[in-house]
Amino acid sequence: MSRKVLFVASECVPFVKTGGLADVVGSLPKYFDQEAYEVRVIVPNYRCIGADWKDKMNFVTSFYMDMAWRSQYVGILEMKYEGIQYYFIDNEYYFAGDRPYGYIHEDIEKFAFFSRAALSILPVVDYRPDIIHCHDWQTGLVPVYLKDSFREGEFYAGMKSMMTIHNLKFQGMWNIPAVQDATGLAMSYFTSDKLEAFGDANYLKGGIVYADVVTTVSRTYAEEIKTPFFGEHLDGLMRARSNALHGIVNGLDYKEWNPKTDPLIYKNYSAENFKTNKVKNKLGLQEELGLEIDKKKMLIGIVSRLTDQKGFDLIDCVMDELCQDEVQIVVLGTGEDRYENLFRHFAWKYNKKVAACICYSNELSHKIYAGCDAFLMPSLFEPCGLSQLMSLRYGALPIVRETGGLKDTVEPYNEFEETGTGFSFSNYNAHEMLAMIRYAQAVYYDKKKSWNKMVKRAMEADFSWDSSARQYEALYDSMTS
Ligand code: ADP
Ligand code: GLC
Repeated sequence: MSRKVLFVASECVPFVKTGGLADVVGSLPKYFDQEAYEVRVIVPNYRCIGADWKDKMNFVTSFYMDMAWRSQYVGILEMKYEGIQYYFIDNEYYFAGDRPYGYIHEDIEKFAFFSRAALSILPVVDYRPDIIHCHDWQTGLVPVYLKDSFREGEFYAGMKSMMTIHNLKFQGMWNIPAVQDATGLAMSYFTSDKLEAFGDANYLKGGIVYADVVTTVSRTYAEEIKTPFFGEHLDGLMRARSNALHGIVNGLDYKEWNPKTDPLIYKNYSAENFKTNKVKNKLGLQEELGLEIDKKKMLIGIVSRLTDQKGFDLIDCVMDELCQDEVQIVVLGTGEDRYENLFRHFAWKYNKKVAACICYSNELSHKIYAGCDAFLMPSLFEPCGLSQLMSLRYGALPIVRETGGLKDTVEPYNEFEETGTGFSFSNYNAHEMLAMIRYAQAVYYDKKKSWNKMVKRAMEADFSWDSSARQYEALYDSMTS
């Protein structure tokens, strides 16, 4: 008999994505042993999900759910896609925005509704999971509700929950009276050993306290978050739960992210023929973005949310200096105004050298991973990071700061032993980063053979989901045996 697992998450590729969370939720379920684990996924039916997907959804049923003093409509839609059963929770009041997330006070009520609805639909769709696997603060109330109003009755009895932290920075915090009103949880939940933290109610804390097992997305981050610097004020809780805390590194959907078959890039290539074919992607990108067309020029890519987490203040500090070098830089991202404007400014100042694409484009992201020689990701902290995995897979050598998943996935170049898959620096210091970028340039221009061998190693490094999916399976087994 197979174990039944339910993923509950606020985003999921290919339906709706703002970051790596969606990549994980959309790919990991496909990599479990399908005979032994049946995994289904619940996500909100946001209005911003594309019409082509909406056309493929089937309406199952609807009902009204008690939610504190409210009675709210819950619609259930379903779709089977690439072998996985998806459920979409419908409610036009909560999920009407043009983005998944909006103002925090609205999101607090929205995701309380979503978490409760995710549990409520299970008997209706006749799916009784052994384990509910929750992702990030938006689903932090699922383990709480499971041990609260869903505790009684045969259907939910013995159901276990796992909470995966993709980013401890975002916790879903709001004032206690408003959260109490939105969630309907008794006041006794809002104490410091449960949902309360520093005077507010905190959804992620609730999830971490009430889940049977807690995971995060790399081993290093699992250690880091037990310290004050990375712990985002919950390091004490992380230490207290360290017996239940596991770090499992993210993988990549190798079917989607494959330079050999990727239909979105200019020219397909592999670890065998990248020397002749990868460069065609650079030339295509240079032309498309109005950069000087020069196949020899080192092209450095950035694809990212433009936030402090990703280390953009380091780039801000040395961007002018970097632009004096023999490099081109292409940035794809959206986020904080100061960083959007920073790159717009430099794209104007050095228009043949710097391209700034201040937008969200999946297609362009593929072209950048394929077209660049190197990929810059100097994060202040990084739970795992998928962008560096994509860049490894596409042979754009990552230049990263040694933190979280970046440390666990990028092996620094060792020129004496000819090992490594990228470049890394340890201190959060702009000139240390610049020195590492310059070292990478020196290898690129003066030791082409070594560079190419490293590209091959990077492309052949295995960050498919296979080994991490086995680790999740082992945890599921330990929770249910
Ligand atoms: P995070 O989840 O913290 O944003 P990750 O590296 O885990 O960081 O995942 C980021 C994901 O979002 C990657 O798939 C990356 O390619 C994608 N991404 C980020 N910004 C953009 C953008 N502007 N356009 C297209 N894809 C983007
Ligand atoms: C978060 C983290 C990122 C991680 C992603 C998926 O957005 O910032 O490092 O890769 O979640 O787990």
